[in-house]
Formats: sequence, C-alpha cells, structure tokens
Amino acid sequence: MPEIRQLDRHTAELIAAGEVVERPASVAKELLENAIDAGASAVVVELENGGLTYLRITDNGCGMTPEQLPVAFLRHATSKLRTAEDLAAIGTLGFRGEALAAISAVSRVDIYSRTPGGLEGAMLHLEGGVPGAVEAAGCPEGTTICVRDLFYNTPARMKFMKKDTAEATAVANVVTHLALSHPDISFKLLRDGQETLHTPGDGQLLSAVYAALGRDFAKSLMPIHGAGGDVTAQGFITVPLAGHGTRARQIFFVNGRLVKSQLLQAALEEAYRNRLLKGKYPGCVIHVTMPRDMVDVNVHPAKTVVKFAAEKAVFDAVYYTVKDALDAENRPAAPAQRQDFYRTMTAEEYRAAAAEQAKKPLGSYGGRSAALPLHDVAPTPGQTFTAPAPQGG
Ligand SMILES: Nc1ncnc2c1ncn2[C@@H]1O[C@H](COP(=O)(O)OP(=O)(O)O)[C@@H](O)[C@H]1O
Ligand SMILES: [Mg+2]
Repeated sequence: MPEIRQLDRHTAELIAAGEVVERPASVAKELLENAIDAGASAVVVELENGGLTYLRITDNGCGMTPEQLPVAFLRHATSKLRTAEDLAAIGTLGFRGEALAAISAVSRVDIYSRTPGGLEGAMLHLEGGVPGAVEAAGCPEGTTICVRDLFYNTPARMKFMKKDTAEATAVANVVTHLALSHPDISFKLLRDGQETLHTPGDGQLLSAVYAALGRDFAKSLMPIHGAGGDVTAQGFITVPLAGHGTRARQIFFVNGRLVKSQLLQAALEEAYRNRLLKGKYPGCVIHVTMPRDMVDVNVHPAKTVVKFAAEKAVFDAVYYTVKDALDAENRPAAPAQRQDFYRTMTAEEYRAAAAEQAKKPLGSYGGRSAALPLHDVAPTPGQTFTAPAPQGG
C-alpha cells in the first residue's frame, strides 16, 4: 500500500503557484491588478526577453510599510478581504492573497515600496519564495516590483514557454486590456527598452482605445450607453461596415474586470444579426456594470470567468443597448451625431492630451521608471537612488 504523506510546504507552494502563474503575462496581470487596487494613477511595465528574465512594474499607489512587505508575500495574506461574507461582494481586482506568494515562489523578486508621506521606503529580496531581510531604502512613493528569472526553479513549466515575442505579446495584451478597463490610469509599456504603448490616463475610454488599439479601430467605433434595471452597458462598438475576421476585438469588462463570457458575446452578436457581412464579427469595448453581489468572480484563480446571478438581465442590457445604438445609426439624423462624436477626439487632440500627460511626473520620480537600481546595483540602506537605466537581464 502506498504511503500517504502531506507535501512539504515548498512543493505545495510550487503546485499552487502553477495555477496563478502560468506565464509572464499572468505575472503582469496580477502585479498590475495590485497597482490598480493600490490606487495608482500611473503605471509603468518594463520587460525583457518576453518577461521571462525581467519584468518590472512601477506604480505610484499607496505603497506598503516596511512591516507589511514580508507579510504581503505570505500565502492567503491580503488587505482586501477580511471574512467569508466579504467574498459575496468583491470590490477589488485581487482578493485571494495568492499572487505575490505564487510569483515569488517561482522567481527572484525585488520589491521597493514607500507609503505617501513615509519618511523612508523599504526593500525586500526574495528568492524562490524565501525572503531576505527588509532593508531601508530611499525610493519613490508607491511600489516597484521586479520579477526576474521566472520559473528558474520549475524547469517543467519553463519548457512550455513560447518564443520571447509570443510571451511579450501576451504581456502587451494584458496591459492593453487593463488600460482599457481603467482609462483614468496612465499605462506605459516598454518592451526591451522600446515604448510600445502609452495611454494618457485622462479618464476617457476613447483616448485609451485610441492609444491601445490604434487609430483605425478607434475611428470605426460608435458609442453606446444603456441600462436595464441594475445592469448598465456602455462603451463603444464597431459600425456594421467595419466587421472583423475574428472575435479578438470583442472586449468586455464586468465591474472593471476583463471577462471571457459567451453570454456577453452572444448578446453582442445577436444585436448585429443581419447587419454584418457573412463571416464578419463585430468588435467592441463594453463596460458592463451591476451591483457587486450580482456577479461571482471567484470561479477560477485567473478570475476571468464570472457567474451572473441574473443572466437574462445581463444579456438584455447588452443586447438592447447595442441594438438601440445600431438602430439609431440607421435613422437619418444619426450620421451628423456621429460626426460630432468623432470630433471629440481628433488625432491632434489626442497627441496634445498624451503630450500633456507625459509632462506630468509619475509619482515623485519624474516619469522615469528607471530611477531605481536593478538588483546588481547593490542598494545601500538609506541611500537615495539616481540609478542608471536598465542594462538588460
Ligand atoms: N503594488 C502594490 N501596492 C500596495 N500594496 C500592494 C501592492 N501589491 C500588493 N500589495 C499588498 O499585498 C497584498 C497581497 O497581494 P496579492 O498577493 O496580490 O494578494 P491580493 O491582491 O489578492 O490581496 C495585497 O492585499 C496588498 O495589501
Ligand atoms: Mg493581487
């Protein structure tokens, strides 16, 4: 008879980490969600080699105290949930208290953090989940977390990684989706030193769409806004003539969270019935909102699957909002309105808004996320950094 044994802590942690941390993009998603939950208004993502060797996320959010730093990396440690009852109405992106524990279990992590008004920041290095000592560190307000050598201690997972470019693209998709879910936050992505995405964070969904999905897509959109009971749907849909070959541009958010939902997809496509050429799909960026207790986000560790308490109400809200907008589009007065809408954001205006945003300092470090040292620039406790730009790996 085989012996039944409880797994040691390290092995159990590696298994649990596998669910949350599948690839660099899942690391980026968790860390960006933390930045958003921390109330950041600007976030910078830097990655090298698809994020496998180097992924750094800098935010200007609420930061953590030196005492909190090591606690944040414990499993089931969270500031976002207290009791089981809280699970019924989750208002933050994170709540499982797993991400930092999982990420640090399979990589080398450096974290720097300072709370607003805090005299001094702190830094902590973790290697395979094992924390070093918390050290005082001069750093900007907010949090910088640098994840290196992902999966260095789980070769089985490493084997499944795609080419760097594929991993980098997956990270870019995560950043894009989060930028669209939070137009009030400026997101910047640097891929191997190149800026490939930068949203202005001016609170306008259309500016975020413009910056993240491109001018042509933004120009093919019309606005929608409607509600049925407690459920509202608003955002943008493609005009019927601008059908897409795939569903890749069907982007839905539920209470600010990107979701994959066949129900929402069906509601959208049903509203376009007989309006699109055969084989073409509508595109959209739609924010659906409803009372928190009408949606269960705790279905899967990745939190992209949700359950609706009232599926019909959700379907109807999206279906009728989209259908009404498309019907109105066919009425003679509509084209003029659309012209107005397009005029709300010309390319020049967008560039002006983006330039204005670029002038604003990111947190207290002048828009340069490179103001912190890499790990190989050994930080002396209490030092204020004016460090060089990243040199790779
Ligand atoms: N960027 C950040 N800024 C401030 N606090 C953070 C940040 N990232 C993580 N934390 C803190 O660490 C805790 C644990 O994070 P995490 O493991 O992602 O779990 P969760 O987000 O589910 O709470 C969070 O609840 C939060 O208090
Ligand atoms: Mg989290």
